[in-house]
Amino acid sequence: MAHDHDHLIELLDLDAEVMHEYFRDLIGWVGREAPDRPHVVDLGAGSGTGSLALARQLPGSTVTAVDVSPEMLAHLRSRAGTAGLGDRIRTVEADLDQPWPDLGPTDVIWAAASMHHMADPGKAVASAFSALRPGGLLVIVELGSFPRFLAGTPDEDVELRGHAAMAKRRDEAGMHMHEDWGTRIKHAGFTSVTERRVDIDLRPPLPPAATRYAEISLGRMLHALNEQLSPPDLAALDKIIASLPGRHDLGVRTQRTIWLARR
Ligand SMILES: C[S@@+](CC[C@H](N)C(=O)[O-])C[C@H]1O[C@@H](n2cnc3c(N)ncnc32)[C@H](O)[C@@H]1O
Repeated sequence: MAHDHDHLIELLDLDAEVMHEYFRDLIGWVGREAPDRPHVVDLGAGSGTGSLALARQLPGSTVTAVDVSPEMLAHLRSRAGTAGLGDRIRTVEADLDQPWPDLGPTDVIWAAASMHHMADPGKAVASAFSALRPGGLLVIVELGSFPRFLAGTPDEDVELRGHAAMAKRRDEAGMHMHEDWGTRIKHAGFTSVTERRVDIDLRPPLPPAATRYAEISLGRMLHALNEQLSPPDLAALDKIIASLPGRHDLGVRTQRTIWLARR
């Protein structure tokens, strides 16, 4: 289990590193919309990518990183300390499916790849509305599609079957991957909602971080789908993962949607 956690932490760290242009633009956009010296709350902060980037982007800001996982928060604290941001980033361990802890007056709520985990999306967005000061900013980032590394290669079909099986698993687990967050946000009372869809398409050759990102992503897929994929597909995926470090045909294709709204 700890092993799984370590891989998830590394995967989350690599996500922003590999897609650094998209991420830099997104953080820049939020930075331009945020007030001076804001209190930022990072919901489902994970390994801390958003917390650290926002703390850097917004001088004088303080960040409260909330997550249910103590392992994630420990990693986040260590990263913040190394980056010299330990005095501006605090962590709060909380299950956001329960009544939210009092986070103090909040100017920006950032929720990246975390809202789909909430048991009741409508309630989560309403809680975000209540937690924000009037004029405060809500930013939700969600994955329209998980990264594909093998598009246009002979291994594309196996990866596609893997993604289809993973999507089925997520639906069965009750994750809210197909939620209309824009409508939810408006219903909660937010006044202006901007939706931006970003298609990411990184072509080979890619830096070593992208190969590692592919290795962890496909490794997690293989591990998760032990029962769901056919034996030939499992064997093929295993072989593909072993071949990744020597390959020069990997790309990264994924889609992210961002909703930015004001209370
Ligand atoms: C896919 S990760 C995203 C992490 C980070 N926001 C990022 O963009 O890299 C989702 C995070 O949400 C957290 N999470 C899931 N359900 C939660 C809940 N009910 N309360 C608080 N955190 C939760 C998980 O522990 C995990 O760290």
